[in-house]
Order: sequence, then structure tokens, then C-alpha cells
Amino acid sequence: MPTMGALHEGHAKLIREAATRATFVVVTVFVNPTQFGPNEDLAKYPRTLEADVALAFERGASLVFAPSNDAMYPDGDETRVRVPGTSHDLCGVFRPTHFEGVATIVTKLFALAGPCVACFGKKDYQQLRVISRLAKDLFLPVDVVGIPTVREPDGLALSSRNRYLDANARASARRIPEGLSLAWQAFDRGERRAGALAHLVRSRVEPVAASIDYVSVADPTTAQAFDDDAQVGPRALLALALRIGGARLIDNVVLGEDPAPIANFIEDRR
Ligand code: PAJ
Repeated sequence: MPTMGALHEGHAKLIREAATRATFVVVTVFVNPTQFGPNEDLAKYPRTLEADVALAFERGASLVFAPSNDAMYPDGDETRVRVPGTSHDLCGVFRPTHFEGVATIVTKLFALAGPCVACFGKKDYQQLRVISRLAKDLFLPVDVVGIPTVREPDGLALSSRNRYLDANARASARRIPEGLSLAWQAFDRGERRAGALAHLVRSRVEPVAASIDYVSVADPTTAQAFDDDAQVGPRALLALALRIGGARLIDNVVLGEDPAPIANFIEDRR
């Protein structure tokens, strides 16, 4: 189970799931420099190794692997793993080198640990698809399992980056699961126009977001975005990335598959 540390209940659930599927669970803690862009939060990414090790063992880890940068990228390292199609849209547009960094480090970690099963959160849905694709394409003998997103009571997806939010920003962030829930309800009532589904989310988050990278409807297997005028099938990925109070947050729901981020959400139109 690869992580970048700053472990929270979302990670904990993945560790517990891994422990139900395997007798020996390796949790990795490594803030992977190659998946951060030049102006991203690598330097300030939260590092809480001691607490991470304690939580990992408490929740079922057999071993915690927390290597140095030099161990993972020694002098002369040059091989990179690219999954260009699945990485192309959504976050790939705004973080053009991100998924190459993710695919490369996860391939290295798989090579070191030799897992039969690897658990990834649906919270990072495009990442899950990139890893599934690379495991299939490279014939890696590993089952890549997607685990449902763990959310706060108000629906906000747990994330290491939530600790960047002050009280105001934290309150505003609730609009993310609210918007996704409005679109979930529309889909449930039969709405299939990609643009209309995305618009419901966008109009809910726009008033509180400092900027919006994307709100998109995409194919849930390839992560390729649909045009606004497309009609989606019985399953569709609705994903977004935006900034609130200095934090870049992502979230998604797979319509036709996931429960609503907020059950029975009723829009407050005041
Ligand atoms: P990180 O953000 O630490 O996440 C590690 C794993 O925890 C990922 O599979 C992620 O999807 C999952 N996760 C995070 N928040 C979650 C939530 N609220 N509910 C369910 N699962 C959640 O993702 C990375 O690290 C890195 O890109 C990594 C794969 C480790 C490669 O460096």
C-alpha cells in the first residue's frame, strides 16, 4: 500500500482492507519528488513519519518502508514509466508530469515489494486507473484494487492536504461533496448530458473556489473526458480539481456505481 505519509483515516481504511486480502502488508511512506511540478507543494507537503509508522502498525501493517530520495532515485536513475492515454485528461492537463512520476514510483515500489494485491483509493480515481493500466500492460502479477473514498461527516473527502485549510476554507470545501451530490441526484433522475452534470457541480463550487482546474465527466475506465454535449452511459466518472484557501483539492464520484457523497443532500437555496 503506497502512501506519501501524513496518514489519516482514508489511508487507515486502505491498510485494513489490504490486511483482509493479504497475510503480509507493506505500507510505504515516501513523498515522491518526481510527481510534483515545479510550483507545487513538495517542500511544504506534511511529513509526520513517527505518527505514520504508529498508525500503520496499529491498523495492520506488517512492515513500513520509508526510503530516502537517494534510495529510490540513485545517481544515474533515468527510467520513467508513462501511461499517456489514461494520464492525458483531467489532472493530466494541469499536472503534465504528475502521472509519469506516480507510475514510475509505483512500478519501483511494486518491484521492491512484489505484492500480489495493491490497494489504491478511489479518491484519486485517475491515479487508480493509471496504475491498473500499467499493471495490465506490463503483465505485473498484482491485483490492483480500488477502495471507496473515506469522507468526513459533512462529505468532504479525507486528504493530507485538508490540513492546509483554515476554518473558513474548510467550511467552504463542503460545497465540493454538495455539488457532486447534486449531480448524483440528477443522474439518478435520468440526466445523461455530460455538460449538464458538470454544470451542476461547477455552479455549486464556483462561489467559493479561488480557481477551478476542471469539473469534467469522463469515461470511468480510460479517464478520458467527454465533450459537454456527449450523453454518458450507465457509469460515468464525474471528477474535479480546484483551489480553496491555498489548497488544491480533488474529488470525484463514479455515477451509476458509488453512493452519493452526501446521502439525501437537499440544496439550501437561501
Ligand atoms: P497519498 O495521497 O498519500 O495516498 C495514498 C493512498 O491513499 C492512495 O491510494 C489514495 O487514493 C488513498 N487515499 C487518500 N485519501 C483517501 C480517502 N479519503 N479515501 C480513500 N483512499 C484515500 O496517492 C498517493 O499518496 C501517491 O500518489 C502514491 C500512490 C503513494 C505514489 O507516490
